[in-house]
Amino acid sequence: MENKMDVAVLGLGGMGGTHVGAAKASPYIRNIYGYEPDPARAALRGRELGINATSDLNSIMNNPEIKLVYIASINEAHAEQTETSMRAGKAVLCEKPMGIDLSDARRMLAVEKATGGFLQIGFELHYSQMYMTVKEWIDEGLIGTPVNTQCRYYCSEFHLKDTWRSKSKGTLIGEKLSHYLDLQRWWINSPVDEVFSMNAPNAVSYFNHPDNHQINLRFKNGAVSSLNFVMYIGETDHADPLLEMLEKQADDGHYLQYHIFGTKGAIETDVFRRRIRRWEFSDSPKQLVSKIVEKISFPKAEDQVWFHNTHGQNLRVAELVAKGLPPETAASDSYETMVAGFAAEKSERERRIVKLSEFQQ
Ligand SMILES: NC(=O)c1ccc[n+]([C@@H]2O[C@H](COP(=O)([O-])OP(=O)(O)OC[C@H]3O[C@@H](n4cnc5c(N)ncnc54)[C@H](O)[C@@H]3O)[C@@H](O)[C@H]2O)c1
Repeated sequence: MENKMDVAVLGLGGMGGTHVGAAKASPYIRNIYGYEPDPARAALRGRELGINATSDLNSIMNNPEIKLVYIASINEAHAEQTETSMRAGKAVLCEKPMGIDLSDARRMLAVEKATGGFLQIGFELHYSQMYMTVKEWIDEGLIGTPVNTQCRYYCSEFHLKDTWRSKSKGTLIGEKLSHYLDLQRWWINSPVDEVFSMNAPNAVSYFNHPDNHQINLRFKNGAVSSLNFVMYIGETDHADPLLEMLEKQADDGHYLQYHIFGTKGAIETDVFRRRIRRWEFSDSPKQLVSKIVEKISFPKAEDQVWFHNTHGQNLRVAELVAKGLPPETAASDSYETMVAGFAAEKSERERRIVKLSEFQQ
């Protein structure tokens, strides 16, 4: 292929490894470079991932063959590394969240505007078959107008003591829930007007932030959404090789479900049951009649495509950059999701309804 380019991955932890794997599979990518601030870790991860890794960020920024940078470093580094990369003329796919606070998110959006470069945020659920199917069904009018989305997300504690995640200054709204607020915004397709969020006292004593959130959104078109998150009831995973993880977690306290209610029907997504269903409402002389009319389930082998399709997202982003096309999800749209999350944090702190207009620049 003629328009092959070199790429770099900043941050070579779990997610960095996923980005390297996708880059290796892309027909648009030639060489893959990696960056870790600590030289010994750079060398170790470079060997493990089979790429050329360095602790000298300038060598990446000054390399004109590197056209695309994937940022998979800790959240605190996202804004600065996005700015450095874009000012060096690179296209950027940066992992969510857009930094840890409003000023980080604004900085990322500002540098995109100032450079006119390519910036996409890693909200890969837009590429996941489960959530794309919801979007398609809504766009086809199969549930009428979506007016209410409910997300129930209960999981186990897996961030561990003394890690950047448990010690982060940012909350889990950015680190985890931004994905799930983003979907609610995508499906309702109307600006968020106001947010009311609450959190209960922690069960996870060593988190530097709440371990639970109850976030309510009201959209400009009148629709509402709620997101209920608790990070401790699901049974702790001991990586038992005899148990299939999702099968076990389907009934051990883990839940990751959406219910999307429309004026003519409803949709349910259920990660732990590997299932998506659709209801149709009709009128009868006696009552509104509800009927399940569609049900899709899928095998374990297809998990990646149906859930967190980072691989599919990255293949597509490499293609977009190689062909000089714009991002498929605008950074300004991802920013709106971040602002809804910051409004939820503010609502919890100040114990009041927060209008999104309070965040206008
Ligand atoms: N989109 C998703 O579904 C998804 C899933 C997991 C993680 N993530 C995101 O990916 C990022 C990394 O998460 P992870 O699970 O790989 O964490 P991780 O702890 O496994 O890896 C983080 C890596 O970043 C390195 N690092 C620390 N400071 C750095 C810096 N200044 N510059 C570059 N690297 C630095 C660490 O040494 C480590 O190797 C986070 O932003 C996280 O939110 C996204």
